[in-house]
Amino acid sequence: MPTLLHIDSSPRAASVSSFLASVFVEKWTQRNPAGRVLHHNSSIERFPYLDEAFIDASFTPEAERTAAQKAALAFSDQMVDELLDADVVVLGVPMWNLSIPASLKAWIDLIVREGRTFAFTEQGAAPLTPPGKRVYVFSARGGAYPVGTPFQDFDQQEPYLRRILGVIGLTRVEFISAEHQSDGPQAAAQGLARAKCAIDALAE
Ligand SMILES: Cc1cc2nc3c(=O)[nH]c(=O)nc-3n(C[C@H](O)[C@H](O)[C@H](O)COP(=O)(O)O)c2cc1C
Repeated sequence: MPTLLHIDSSPRAASVSSFLASVFVEKWTQRNPAGRVLHHNSSIERFPYLDEAFIDASFTPEAERTAAQKAALAFSDQMVDELLDADVVVLGVPMWNLSIPASLKAWIDLIVREGRTFAFTEQGAAPLTPPGKRVYVFSARGGAYPVGTPFQDFDQQEPYLRRILGVIGLTRVEFISAEHQSDGPQAAAQGLARAKCAIDALAE
């Protein structure tokens, strides 16, 4: 039974990124009627930020952890388990201040776990996530950051997500963005239509 892990991160009811992600998930569900979908919204569920108890616990060897340390890691363990179980990961991501919402960064801090999703080696971080998982990122942006223009470098969302997901072994990452969402109704509608066409063109 294939499993899809779906994480939205916009708090908005009319979220464009969540809408795009939902279009993809609906198509995936039609193609995988026996599939399982796990859904979270990191903003609405207020994923927690790391605190000192978490950091102490995560750097304590597993066999030596106290009950309190295990409790401090429990939600992160659940998030990691959900990621490791998933065949497909779908992220709905608004562009906020050139990057991602803090609540999605909170999810990343919960899943990038030494000993669980990556290991420190002499050569640097080595991924521990089993290969083959597909990741689909559905982004909505007020503007646009076309490659080869002076605006390209302002996009700190796609390069960051590709890099950090790669650290844990998620390298099959597809990005689809609805651009121009703050550039008036016509430009926004065109940006959304282009993103929906790109979803239709996806093989999976
Ligand atoms: C706090 C905030 C920061 C934003 N920062 C940017 C930005 O840096 N670049 C951009 O192109 N759009 C920016 N926008 C516009 C959003 O990316 C756009 O409204 C998008 O549709 C939000 O995604 P959503 O519809 O899924 O909520 C920002 C919007 C908000 C609310």
